This record gives sequence, structure tokens and C-alpha cells, in this order.
Amino acid sequence: MIRFEHVNFAYGSAPVLRDVNFHVAPGETIVIFGVSGSGKSTILKLVSGLAKPQAGRIWINGDDMTDANESTWSVVRPKIGLVFQGGALFDSMTIGENIGFTLLEHTDKPMAEIEATVRQTLRFLNLSEDLIDELPDSLSGGMQRRVAIGRAVAAVDPLIMLYDEPTTGLDPISTVAIAEMIVKLRDVKKVSSIVVTHQIADAFGLTDHFIVLHDGVIVFDGDGASLLRSGHPHVRAFLAPFVESVRALPAMGI
Ligand SMILES: Nc1ncnc2c1ncn2[C@@H]1O[C@H](COP(=O)(O)OP(=O)(O)O)[C@@H](O)[C@H]1O
Ligand SMILES: [Mg+2]
Repeated sequence: MIRFEHVNFAYGSAPVLRDVNFHVAPGETIVIFGVSGSGKSTILKLVSGLAKPQAGRIWINGDDMTDANESTWSVVRPKIGLVFQGGALFDSMTIGENIGFTLLEHTDKPMAEIEATVRQTLRFLNLSEDLIDELPDSLSGGMQRRVAIGRAVAAVDPLIMLYDEPTTGLDPISTVAIAEMIVKLRDVKKVSSIVVTHQIADAFGLTDHFIVLHDGVIVFDGDGASLLRSGHPHVRAFLAPFVESVRALPAMGI
């Protein structure tokens, strides 16, 4: 569904991704870990065609998109739902306008049809349909983030979902609610997903396929058990705070 082969990417002369290879199977979710600046968001940009690699090949849904022109991308991009880092909503628009944004802006669908899609999306997200006329400010951070996922889903009826740090800054309960959304989209809509996150414990509930990126290089690609056993120094450094917190549980009587 998504395949990177020997992908290199640089902003100007600054290399960001080096010889990146990975594969996401149809209906599969993978999690990408990596410290800030390692190139995670750049991978999502390349998958959604917002940036082009300088070398290597990128396959999406069976098509080689490496040299695809804008008209080819305009067919593929609507199948890709992107939840941006921070998941910002337009604060002067209602929840309904936020979720329907792409449909309102980029399609000729009649209002009644857009409203029906927005209502259906709210139900799918386990959010009340009464929120449709509310402003984002009146929602908790966790609900706003769910609406941001709704905006991606309503717009595209996606084959692929890309989540850039969807739970950063949220409380534990909201984090669980977002994780449930990601799993529901995977199971009900059968999407392939890439989740970029720092929340290691929660990531284990999403998939058993993990990639660790360090300085633009994939230093790990494998399952959770191998991840925890990995002797790679950058993998161990990334996991250290998590491993220490798990070790501390018995001392806390848990
Ligand atoms: N638009 C840009 N122009 C130049 N450099 C950028 C741009 N966006 C990101 N970078 C640089 O590319 C590197 C990878 O960024 P990014 O993919 O956002 O990392 P991550 O999401 O892992 O934090 C960083 O060094 C960052 O400073
Ligand atoms: Mg990022």
C-alpha cells in the first residue's frame, strides 16, 4: 500500500532522509518513533505528495508516485487523510464547518450531502451531533483532536491515514480516545496507517510494526518484542525513559 525504496530527501543542501526503505501492507498500521528533527513529519509529507524525494522510489496503492505530476496526485491525494502535528482546527469556524472544510472548499457537493457526511462523521467519532454548530473553543483538547481526525476522514473516505503526533499534549483519557479512533478507522474502514508518536506505551496498542528513525536513517524496523530487545544505541536511548518507567512500577507496588 505504501512502499519507500532507497528514498533520499534534502531541504536544499541539508539531507533529511537517507536511504529510507519501509513497507506498509494494506490495512496495516505502522508506528514511527524518533527524536525531534529525525525526519518523521518529512516522511508523511512525502507520502502525501507535499514533498518530492531527490532519489529513490515511492509507491502508493500499487502505483509508482515518484515522478507523478499534479494531476495524478490530485487523484491519489483524496484517498489520504492527514492529521497534522497539533491537529489545529480553524477557531473561527464551527465544528461542522471544520469537519466539512475540504468538502465545502474543494467539491461541488450540495450542502445537505455535506451536512449528512459531517453528522455521520461525528457519530463515527462518538461525538454528539449537537456539536455541529459549536466553536472549537468550547471543546476540550482531546475532543478538538478527534474533530481534527474527523476532518481528515470526512474529506476523503481514506485508504491511507497519516497521523503526526496525534496525542501530544493530551491527557491520558483523551489519548486513549484517540488511540481508539485510530484502531476503529483501521478495523472499520480498513485503512493503512502511519502513526508518528512519542507515546510508546500507547503505541503498543496500535500495532506490532515499529520503525525508529534517527537523523534521517531507519535504525529499526520490526515488531515490539524485537524493539524492546534491540541493542542499537539510538533505539535504546529513545526507549530508555519508557523502560525506566516500566521498571519503576514494581517499586511503586503496581
Ligand atoms: N521546510 C523546511 N525547510 C528546511 N528544513 C526543514 C523544513 N522542515 C523541516 N526541516 C528540517 O528537516 C529535519 C527533519 O524535520 P521533520 O521531518 O519535521 O522532523 P520530525 O518530524 O522528526 O521532528 C529537521 O532538521 C528540520 O529542521
Ligand atoms: Mg514532526
